[in-house]
Amino acid sequence: MSTDLDSRQLRRRHKLKSTLGLGETLFASAEERKFALALEDGLRLVEEGLRKEMTFADPLADVTARYLFEAGGKRVRPALALLTAQLGRGNTPEVIIAAQAMEITHLASLYHDDVMDDAEVRRGVPSAQSVWGNSVAILTGDLLFARAGRLISGLGDRAIELQSMTFERLCLGQLHETIGPRPEDDPIEHYLQVLSDKTGSLISAAAQVGAIFSDAPVEYQEPLHEFGEKIGVAFQLIDDVLDLSGELEETGKTPGTDLRSGVATLPLLYLRRLAPEDPSAQKLLDRIEKGIYSESKDDPEFEAAVVDLREHQVTKKTLEEAKRWAHEGVDALEALPKGPVRKALTRFTETLVERSS
Ligand code: IPE
Ligand code: IPE
Ligand code: MG
Ligand code: MG
Repeated sequence: MSTDLDSRQLRRRHKLKSTLGLGETLFASAEERKFALALEDGLRLVEEGLRKEMTFADPLADVTARYLFEAGGKRVRPALALLTAQLGRGNTPEVIIAAQAMEITHLASLYHDDVMDDAEVRRGVPSAQSVWGNSVAILTGDLLFARAGRLISGLGDRAIELQSMTFERLCLGQLHETIGPRPEDDPIEHYLQVLSDKTGSLISAAAQVGAIFSDAPVEYQEPLHEFGEKIGVAFQLIDDVLDLSGELEETGKTPGTDLRSGVATLPLLYLRRLAPEDPSAQKLLDRIEKGIYSESKDDPEFEAAVVDLREHQVTKKTLEEAKRWAHEGVDALEALPKGPVRKALTRFTETLVERSS
């Protein structure tokens, strides 16, 4: 039994590393192989720790809290923390705890996000609120935020401040997404700010905690902060394009969920900007908006409009914008020394913008 579990965990870690672009081929020299082993070891420690941290004395909470954790996930945020930790003393106990807290915070936000987006599927399984209802899903998210806070509290004031500021930005990002731009706001600028708050903040915090809690030189913190913010926006822009993808098996989410729940993602915002001067863009916009406001969840016309939006030049433009943010993120790494960490962060970013899940 335990051998089965061990081999499952091992396979999962290998898959994780290759999903993140950190497979063996990246590491040729002895220094790089040592780095790869440290990463592997860190991922194992984080995963084992998470398994322990995700338990609750209450029998219902114990099941609901572990539900999405056990369903999968790429572990992007812990991986980032572990990568940047190799700029300092490596996988210190504090780094491992901080990496766990980043993943638990992310996980908590997914429970809440699926309620707000009325999402049916997450990580390939029915969303928590489809199984237990909104109240249990929201409270499970809250329990997980509390658990992340408890972990972080053991790491001192700096960690508590970073975690609180990140949480605040996450909530404000979601709030601004929900209420939309004010009449005087530019919708695209407003949207990019939403992405940087709801997604960039946590990805940036993850990149920073690795350096902070491995005692890496302090001058690395600001470039890593900037790197995380920028690749976080790129990551979310790709997620918006994946929302238009028909591949539930790959993304683990139902296509068109964002659009249907009223989230105007960048392809739709570009389409709206284009529509007044382009009749075919206007036609597509009308078809999408008709679907957004229709009551029916099973709407082949809306699904066909989502496919047309995916094929439209506005989606290509969104991908280009994602790549631009990713490049800027990588540019921020110039302040770091050349070596395996910089190389792996660069490869990691390339993989994030090429991803299909
Ligand atoms: C999903 O994040 C939510 C976004 C911020 C786009 P991930 O794509 O990292 O989700 P998991 O952890 O792999 O499920
Ligand atoms: C990301 O937003 C969720 C948070 C950062 C809280 P989305 O709603 O776009 O993410 P997915 O597509 O459902 O994973
Ligand atoms: Mg969502
Ligand atoms: Mg959302």
